[in-house]
Amino acid sequence: MSKKIEVYEVGPRDGFQSIKCSMIPTEEKIAIIDSIIESGVNHIEFTSFVSPKAIPQLADAADVTKAVLEKHPEADLFALVPNLRGATNAYELGLRKVCYVVSFSVSHNKANINRTHEQSIEAFKEIRNTYPDLDIIVDLATAFGCPFEGKFEDPARLVTFMKDYVDAGMKACCLCDTIGIADPVQVKNVIRAIKEAYPELELSVHFHDTRGLGIVNTMAAIEEGVTEVQSTLGGIGGCPFAPGASGNMATEDVVWMLNEMGYETGIDFSKIVTAAKHEKEVVPGNYSGHNINIENVTVCKAG
Ligand code: COA
Ligand code: ZN
Repeated sequence: MSKKIEVYEVGPRDGFQSIKCSMIPTEEKIAIIDSIIESGVNHIEFTSFVSPKAIPQLADAADVTKAVLEKHPEADLFALVPNLRGATNAYELGLRKVCYVVSFSVSHNKANINRTHEQSIEAFKEIRNTYPDLDIIVDLATAFGCPFEGKFEDPARLVTFMKDYVDAGMKACCLCDTIGIADPVQVKNVIRAIKEAYPELELSVHFHDTRGLGIVNTMAAIEEGVTEVQSTLGGIGGCPFAPGASGNMATEDVVWMLNEMGYETGIDFSKIVTAAKHEKEVVPGNYSGHNINIENVTVCKAG
């Protein structure tokens, strides 16, 4: 069992994207990203290069990118892109890592990025071939189930779907439980099937806490050998194009669990809780209801 687990913070993308009532000031976004990195998080998805009509909250992607690249050149920084245009905008600002999103569910793919599966694989190839030196994680949304089509019980279908991406050069893939419908048995079955079919693929997981299972699903993935797990500060989150989507598994929850279990995360629990408290004060988000009660949590340890 690997004792090193890489926690990927994705709140500044997956959390902020769903906030419609007001624009979070750009400086505030940058300050939250600073506090996340200062707590020891090394991997962070900090914005999206998407249509500002689809996601108005992230229209300041270029400004956020310039600031974080300058302030945190040592961090593993990446942003979501839905198409070549987004990838080009990110690349020209100096970013060398992106997430490309496609939904396993046909109907959610249409609702989210307005594409068929055929169009999505073509757009992936276009980005892959245009920027050979760009690291691309394929975010496989609704990998476990979809708001329109229900739960996907058969991992074989997912494995088949992924083949075109593997053949087109996908090296890293994140299994996203966009609507928090997965359970630990399903998670294990899906990961085993994918590892058997594509042993070289770098796999990560992304769980939402809609039904309170984010943390156990994450642990199930770790037990199957996954060493990269995504979460969001405070459990903020939600896809605006998935009806009823709720918050993600909270970073402070997973850091607490992993640190207590003796895994190495490199993240200071006390600092990440302080960052989450600050975020909750300034960002009126859709927070997971299942995270540690950060108002009362004791951060000192008995000897
Ligand atoms: N960055 C900025 N603007 C972009 C863009 C990008 N990467 N891609 C397209 N646009 C603009 C176009 O110029 C066009 O603007 P206009 O109406 O002023 O001419 C508009 O967005 C629509 O572009 P079009 O190519 O017709 O795409 P679409 O309407 O089919 O939308 C997406 C497709 C992918 C661009 C859009 O659905 C999107 O950005 N979705 C984001 C979804 C998301 O982030 N979901 C949550 C994360 S999982
Ligand atoms: Zn998500």
